[in-house]
Amino acid sequence: MCGIVGYIGKRQASPILLDGLRRLEYRGYDSAGLALSNGRGIEVLRRAGRIENLRKLVAETNPRGEAGISHTRWATHGAPTDSNAHPHRDQSGRLAVVHNGVIENYQQLRDWLKTEDHKFSSETDTEVLAHLIGYHYDQSEEQDPVQRLVGAVQAALPRVKGTYGIAVMHEDAPSVIVGARLGSPLVVGLGADEHFLASDVSAIVAHTKDVVYLNDYDVVTITRDGFDVKHLEGGEARVTVSRVDFTEDDAEKGDFPHYMLKEIHEQPNSIRNAMRGRLSRDEATAILGGLQMTPQELRQVDRIILSACGTACHAGMVGEYLIESLARIPTEVEIASEFRYRNVPTTKDTLQFVISQSGETIDTLAALREAKRKGIKCLGIVNNVASTIARETDGGIYIHAGPEIGVAATKSFTSQVAVMTLLSLLLGRIHHLSSTDGLELIDELEAIPDKITDILKQAAHIKQIAEKYAHVDGMLFMGRLINYPVALEGALKMKEISYIYASGHPSAELKHGVIALVKPELPSVFIAPHDAVFEKNISNIEEVKARKGPVIAVATEGHPHIEKVADDVIYIPRCPSALSPLLTVIPLQLLSYYIAVARGCDVDKPRNLAKSVTVE
Ligand code: G6P
Repeated sequence: MCGIVGYIGKRQASPILLDGLRRLEYRGYDSAGLALSNGRGIEVLRRAGRIENLRKLVAETNPRGEAGISHTRWATHGAPTDSNAHPHRDQSGRLAVVHNGVIENYQQLRDWLKTEDHKFSSETDTEVLAHLIGYHYDQSEEQDPVQRLVGAVQAALPRVKGTYGIAVMHEDAPSVIVGARLGSPLVVGLGADEHFLASDVSAIVAHTKDVVYLNDYDVVTITRDGFDVKHLEGGEARVTVSRVDFTEDDAEKGDFPHYMLKEIHEQPNSIRNAMRGRLSRDEATAILGGLQMTPQELRQVDRIILSACGTACHAGMVGEYLIESLARIPTEVEIASEFRYRNVPTTKDTLQFVISQSGETIDTLAALREAKRKGIKCLGIVNNVASTIARETDGGIYIHAGPEIGVAATKSFTSQVAVMTLLSLLLGRIHHLSSTDGLELIDELEAIPDKITDILKQAAHIKQIAEKYAHVDGMLFMGRLINYPVALEGALKMKEISYIYASGHPSAELKHGVIALVKPELPSVFIAPHDAVFEKNISNIEEVKARKGPVIAVATEGHPHIEKVADDVIYIPRCPSALSPLLTVIPLQLLSYYIAVARGCDVDKPRNLAKSVTVE
């Protein structure tokens, strides 16, 4: 989604801003721009399309300035054109703003500002915000330009309905950048003789690891030498300096052609990190201190709700099977965007988890807030430890997957599933799961990373299959029980990055409609590990083959007779069915990756998609 980078210091700002924007590219955007202040005025440069277009414009015009703000925009109000790109200026033309989020009452504000003779040159809500702050600046009687700018921001923002993360500059106050947030993340980077503002720490981690994650209603002023955080309504705000625990290299591709492929290959390690220090052989259980719940409190839980969006929701669906089968606690997955507007019945002892890689997805955050409003205890399963969801939940489980840059989620899925397995083990062990069953699960879990490595070694074989089917324009994904969510996830990956229409179904549903689509040009991917429903899956494969539909099967090694019915087979090592999603999803990730590459798609930045969806 939209990205913000701001810099003030002794260096030329534009290379730092462009590099920061590049590091935020993965979030998805369709135009980019920057504003530089050099004491003689503010220069604004904007371009629709890729950051490369902006970089060329900067190279041609060579603007100077040791302070600047910049932005990648993902269009919400108005098409992705040069004039709708940020930064936007106010009526005086002397103030510039970049903004993430959505101003819901922008039309009313715009109509009112027009009555004050304000003229607009874009269709965006952000330009209205720039004019509103400029209006209050111009009305102010404060003599000191810095105080006047901060005051204008504090006067304007309470009039706004919606969400914002902003950075503001004014020609009168060239020594400061003012930032503020409500609902959209903003972080301050602390350097020696320089300070940064960013919507995501990965934009600035190359320059500093000391950061302050702003809270909602914070208004920050950064200068070359320092920063100051006030509350929107005045008064000092609470400030905590944090240390970023990953390096810029963690957020680089290394030798891999795409982030997605790198992240697929990271999974043996990311799963190890998710489990590290959390398994107790002595007690045959999992240790999840972050839940901040005693065994007594956990034992009382009589219902679990899992809320999430996209891939995280599919991980939640796997979690539902795991919790119900290992702990026998009734569990339901509620898509976060639905949960927030529904009235889901709960019990006094319902426990909810929101699952989110970014911790910033607006619908998931809203589901969390709705749960809290209703008095439901709500915990997080989150990757980004500094995220809004991580901070607003009372506890939870970090997945420790490291930065995930590829828009299509891969390692976050398996890490979410891994921690939900730990959660199920813990809940199972305080109910009726025996210590021998618990220990067996621990043994099997610890063997998973090496088994993933074995699957990754088959990349060349999967690539061949991908190239065989790269031309198709549709694909079906089938799975049963705990592998039904994996079918949904396989179909989602395929749609997201290869733009092939794909849908996931419980295998037996085939007969209830989907089979009408089967034809030689429509391949079906069957997730058919050797489990209790293996034979049922074989029957479904036969049904497809009888109608001349090509079949790719993901099956367990040691059962080669599946080759008699399927056209192509990808084998996974043996494992208990409860853990099979951690293995069966890997070939599907690689299949979609290689098909997308074969089709020439932009794997890491698929069209129209954003890594972190911070607007509704
Ligand atoms: C977007 C991303 C998906 C992701 C979903 C939820 O749609 O493109 O990959 O699964 O958001 O994101 P979250 O950060 O909450 O897990």
